[in-house]
Formats: sequence, C-alpha cells, structure tokens
Amino acid sequence: MFQLSSAGKEKVLAELKRYESRQSAVLPALYIAQSENKGYISPEVIKELSRVMDIPEANINEVCTFYTMYNKEPIGTHHVQVCRTLSCYLNGAKELSEHICSQLNTHLGEKTKDGKFTVTEVECLGSCGTAPMMQITSGDTAKYYENLTHESAMNIIRGLK
Ligand code: FES
Repeated sequence: MFQLSSAGKEKVLAELKRYESRQSAVLPALYIAQSENKGYISPEVIKELSRVMDIPEANINEVCTFYTMYNKEPIGTHHVQVCRTLSCYLNGAKELSEHICSQLNTHLGEKTKDGKFTVTEVECLGSCGTAPMMQITSGDTAKYYENLTHESAMNIIRGLK
C-alpha cells in the first residue's frame, strides 16, 4: 500500500489550490507521487492520489498512461530516455536505443539485472537540431546529451555510478 508522506500530501494539496480545475493538478501531483514511490506510478499510487485529490482513479490513470514521463514499472537508478521523434529517428535514434540495450544486456522498459539502468524511448525532448539525443534522469536530476553516436552514448552511460 502506498501513502504520500505528509510533505508530499501538502504539496499535492497546494497544487490543487493553484488551479481552477482539480484535474489540472493531476500532472504535478503524479510527479510528486512518483518521486515518493521509487520513481514509478503503481495502481496503489493512483488510488492514493484519487483519495487525496478527490478525483476518480480513471481520470488520474488516463493522464498517467498518456505521458511517457510517468513510469509504470520500477526503474533503474538511471533512466536513459532516447528521443524517438522525427529528427532523432531520422538520425539513427532507433539503432541508438537498440545499441544501448544490447550493450547493457537489457530490453526497452526493463531494468538491468544490477538495477542501475532502465532504457526507454520517449517523444521529442525539444532539441531536434542536435539529434539524436537522450535524457538521463537520476533521482531528481535530469541531464541532456546531444549529437550522440553509439560510442559517445555508451561512454556517458558507462561513466555513471
Ligand atoms: Fe528528438 Fe526533437 S525529435 S529532440
């Protein structure tokens, strides 16, 4: 069973006050809950948010499933997110994510055996002129890496502790 911490609950309630519509607070609330649940949203998290926010679970769930920034499974210490949208795709993003997965001996969306990495593909990260690119999230820190080659991406990933 998941319960928001009292600080997390306060943050969610503060988000509810910021918007005219309760539904608008779902995005930041999911983000707060995700950071309190080891980086992912489980059905228990949805249930808790529904209770705290007084919003039906289905309304929270549909937001959660639409956005790739909410993880539906436990993730590794470092979440490697390779952009798969047009500019990156045309510049080899698919081959890049396949290469990273094969080097880490994993599949898209699965944690590596040592628990260090999860690789996923995401939509445009807003730097299409420097494709292909990836974002790596480690806890609350997100870093962006551009103009990647197979080699430079793996050097970055191997350099992470
Ligand atoms: Fe990859 Fe925009 S298409 S950053």
